[in-house]
Amino acid sequence: MKEITTIKEVKQWLKPYLKKNLRIGFVPTMGALHEGHLRLVRQSTAENNITVCSVFVNPIQFNNQEDLSKYPRNLSQDANLLRKSGCDMMFCPGLEEMYPGGRIDNVELEFGLLDKIMEGKFRPGHFRGVVIVVNKLFNIISPTNAYFGKKDYQQLMVINRMKEALGLAVNIIACETVRENDGLAMSSRNLRLTIGERQVARKIFEVLYKVREKGTKTPVWELREWAIKKIQEDSRFRVEYFEIADRETLMPIESWGQKTQAIALAAVYLGDVRLIDNVELFS
Ligand code: PAJ
Repeated sequence: MKEITTIKEVKQWLKPYLKKNLRIGFVPTMGALHEGHLRLVRQSTAENNITVCSVFVNPIQFNNQEDLSKYPRNLSQDANLLRKSGCDMMFCPGLEEMYPGGRIDNVELEFGLLDKIMEGKFRPGHFRGVVIVVNKLFNIISPTNAYFGKKDYQQLMVINRMKEALGLAVNIIACETVRENDGLAMSSRNLRLTIGERQVARKIFEVLYKVREKGTKTPVWELREWAIKKIQEDSRFRVEYFEIADRETLMPIESWGQKTQAIALAAVYLGDVRLIDNVELFS
């Protein structure tokens, strides 16, 4: 596996593959890789001639400096895991390479309410940072297919809208959330849970699944209230948001009506660790 840190070298390395019109799969990440990321990498290697994975902790998508400074970094371990997963090239640029002179020049995109609710509301500026970096990475790598996890469902929808808004040629491939044995969605943040917190963290997933089971038999507002109460039965949990929304627009649903394509999404603090998860609801 080739490890590259400069944009110029990435372009040079990719040139022969692009010339031959080979399929390039791309998995953008912030490193601290786990099975959730590696599943995307393996899907990419199965579906493309070449797989590129980027590892870049993007400072401009963090609205909280402490979260940024605590973000786990382990580049040599990431490189080993990527090599074993069949990745062909790891792009791990420094800050100066991505934002020369610390400048964050960009063309602003408007996503209506999509990037302003839920994650957008509680992490102002987050999606702006994601869109800037992913668009830049797409321009550097020119992928045929780019892989994103449903774990960050709202991010996936924002990227879909960016593709549409800019008329990008890349195919956005949505991948299922990978979970620990007890159901907790894999995340690099899980490492920051205490042993006690880790033992109860499955609650978020359990309540989301229970909501799916209860489905349209219960009014939306009642289900939402039940879920928040259930999670917060244990005082270590604090629900930041719990929404039942349309799966495409992510607009919250007031009543079931004709909505059959719904999703339940939650952001929950467990101690001081912020966890997000979601499940698609079938009715
Ligand atoms: P990061 O959190 O490192 O995640 C990289 C990709 O892995 C995202 O598409 C995310 O949804 C996916 N992923 C993480 N945990 C997963 C899990 N348990 N199951 C399935 N997929 C999972 O998301 C980002 O980085 C950044 O915002 C990025 C897109 C790289 C832009 O900086």
